[in-house]
Amino acid sequence: MVCYICVSFNNYEPVAGILTEYEEDIMNLKVLAINGSARKNGNSATMLKNAVIGAEEADAKTRLVNLYSLDYKGCTGCVKCKLLSGKSFGRCAQRDDLTTVLEEAIDSDVLLLASPIYFNDVTGALRSFLERLWFPAITYTKERKLLYPKRIKVGMIFTTNAPSDFYSELYNGMVRTSSWIIGDTEYVAAAETWQFNDYSKYAADMFDVDARKRRPEEIFPQECRMAYEMGKRLATVQ
Ligand SMILES: Cc1cc2nc3c(=O)[nH]c(=O)nc-3n(C[C@H](O)[C@H](O)[C@H](O)COP(=O)(O)O)c2cc1C
Repeated sequence: MVCYICVSFNNYEPVAGILTEYEEDIMNLKVLAINGSARKNGNSATMLKNAVIGAEEADAKTRLVNLYSLDYKGCTGCVKCKLLSGKSFGRCAQRDDLTTVLEEAIDSDVLLLASPIYFNDVTGALRSFLERLWFPAITYTKERKLLYPKRIKVGMIFTTNAPSDFYSELYNGMVRTSSWIIGDTEYVAAAETWQFNDYSKYAADMFDVDARKRRPEEIFPQECRMAYEMGKRLATVQ
């Protein structure tokens, strides 16, 4: 229970009240954060945790899931999610560690998705998650009917070795697909991230290490701040 103060429009006196659990639920958005990197404290996870902190400051209920801790596969193309009379209509029929996570995602108000870029795309783990989230939602009907019960706000986080803007086309494509199927989607990205503890010990002399060193010190904190602000904005009840 949460105490609140509001203004009664009859007498303009502040009125103290108690929120019912139902009203509390409306005010506390559910935020599901999905880490698509194997590194639980890497660049993508750090950005994601900042977005989660932002969401918590907006009083959201949050949960973070590390995809690499789960045992699951991508879409198998069984098409049971499209079978009109089937018990899996509009839902992924596969049963594995992703099953409950997908239900949580569909039930959430805000989805935060983070991934490093691996070979010009999100990681296989996030791709597999998205296949199983996106495909059951769509239909091949004439009106392209969507099947999830509500629209969900989505915030995507990407981190890359490449300079900023290098992957704008990829990000905008992800945003377009997600906005169509799931709900309004935006993204923040961190570029030229710190990858090796000690660059001199790895086959990595193409990088200007001194310039790169400034990224975690000066630029990455700003990128984390953008993630924090996105999390807070998306989890703020309008
Ligand atoms: C297998 C692999 C493939 C990668 N491919 C790319 C790539 O195509 N483009 C890029 O900019 N960075 C690439 N990177 C670098 C990562 O995207 C970058 O270091 C990222 O910040 C790592 O995030 P993490 O700390 O969350 O794992 C690759 C890294 C790995 C391990």
